[in-house]
Amino acid sequence: MNQLPNRRILLIDDTPSIHEDFRKILTPPVEQNLELDEMEAALFGGTVKPQAQVQAFELDSAYGGQEGLQRLCAAMEQDRPYALAFVDMRMPQGWDGAQTIEELWKVDPDLQVVVCTAYSDYSWEELLFRLQAHDRLLILKKPFDNIEVQQMANTLAAKWEMARRASLQTSHLEQLVEQRSHALQLEIDERKQLESQLVQSEKLASLGQLAAGVAHEINNPVGFISSNLGTLDGYFKQLQQMFDAYQQAEEALAPGECLEHLQTLRKGMDLEFLKEDIPILIRETKEGIGRVAQIVKDLKDFSRVDNDDKWQWANLQQGIDSTLNIVASELKYKADVVKRYQPLPDIECLASQINQVVMNLVINAAQAMGPERGTITISNGTEGDRVWLEVADNGCGIAPESVQKIFDPFFTTKPVGEGTGLGLSLSYGIVKKHHGDISVTSEVGKGTTFRVILPIRQTAVEQYPLSTS
Ligand SMILES: Nc1ncnc2c1ncn2[C@@H]1O[C@H](COP(=O)(O)OP(=O)(O)OP(=O)(O)O)[C@@H](O)[C@H]1O
Ligand SMILES: [Mg+2]
Repeated sequence: MNQLPNRRILLIDDTPSIHEDFRKILTPPVEQNLELDEMEAALFGGTVKPQAQVQAFELDSAYGGQEGLQRLCAAMEQDRPYALAFVDMRMPQGWDGAQTIEELWKVDPDLQVVVCTAYSDYSWEELLFRLQAHDRLLILKKPFDNIEVQQMANTLAAKWEMARRASLQTSHLEQLVEQRSHALQLEIDERKQLESQLVQSEKLASLGQLAAGVAHEINNPVGFISSNLGTLDGYFKQLQQMFDAYQQAEEALAPGECLEHLQTLRKGMDLEFLKEDIPILIRETKEGIGRVAQIVKDLKDFSRVDNDDKWQWANLQQGIDSTLNIVASELKYKADVVKRYQPLPDIECLASQINQVVMNLVINAAQAMGPERGTITISNGTEGDRVWLEVADNGCGIAPESVQKIFDPFFTTKPVGEGTGLGLSLSYGIVKKHHGDISVTSEVGKGTTFRVILPIRQTAVEQYPLSTS
């Protein structure tokens, strides 16, 4: 926008001589002004005032309402608006003053207007009522005094200028406010993100600690139970030899009192059955203990208590299997798990965090099941220098309007207390940390598939600092 003070005036009057008069009043020749100023300076001292030139008006003429509107439109298009217009009230051809002013204001509502009238078809009140713009309209009664015209032009041009500055300032302020609130929103988003990362590291840390604690607690009894079983097994074998010896002695010797007693005892306790069953019990117990030991190992693998959170080469399928063992109780009544594994190379990763991703996806899949038992299919494979993992379920699916929100922290459709809405946002963070990708396809009522892609090797130099517990 033009930053010089706006001294542009539009005169709309059907009498040519009026234009001559206005021109003399508002745009006196510069030399004449200068001459007068010089005389004034010579007579009274002081210097020639430079504003004589600056304050000159620029006067455009139109001889009817329509022509006036055209000029106004052209001026607006060139971004050179008029500060004010003098409009003759009575113009027998075409629009009269009132209609002209209405049309002018439709194009430029900021235009200040002076109505020039000798007599009018409207009373002043009628005119004001019709134009509804008491603050932009002045009346100039003909015949007018030169000084009146000059004063009006000066005052209204100044008023226009002030209004423009005020509105510029307002829009500048509005802009500032908008910038600030944008910055504030960014800050809020960033904080949310940080907060969720914090929760992530805490969640991971506490899970790790929990798993490590459980593993430790179980490890001790498992140790002595399995060692005791070994010993018991040995003892039983010795006892069995003893029994066998008795039996042989019983058969070889002649019947007697003592033998009779032994025989009744043996028949009563069904020694044959005991000899068969005890070894079976011991074998089963050993198996059970073996399974407990495996769970402990899985817990350790899952939480990686031994090697903490380090970038390492790990087998994704092993990670998935230990994770499945950990969440077995969550899945048991909800879904069957189908594994479609293909041979995979080890990948460079933060193994316990990848396990965390798998756990979130599998638990979400289980939670998506309705009353009917569903199926969770876990597949994986390689694709160039990356591996992919898919967790697919035939659960409730995700509504299209929710899909873009599921990775946002705290977005959940689960009842309060059941979901925090952090699972996927944490998983997203972990996958991104691995320079990988996570995506979803879903159909309501059919099911959902999450696909995670991870690079085999973390070639990027920059590896994120790890959370410490
Ligand atoms: N397999 C899925 N099937 C259907 N909806 C899903 C599935 N996975 C995620 N969602 C939707 O995405 C939302 C966000 O999942 P996210 O794991 O981040 O949080 P949550 O499961 O609600 O809570 P949290 O994981 O913190 O316990 C879920 O509330 C659910 O609406
Ligand atoms: Mg979840």
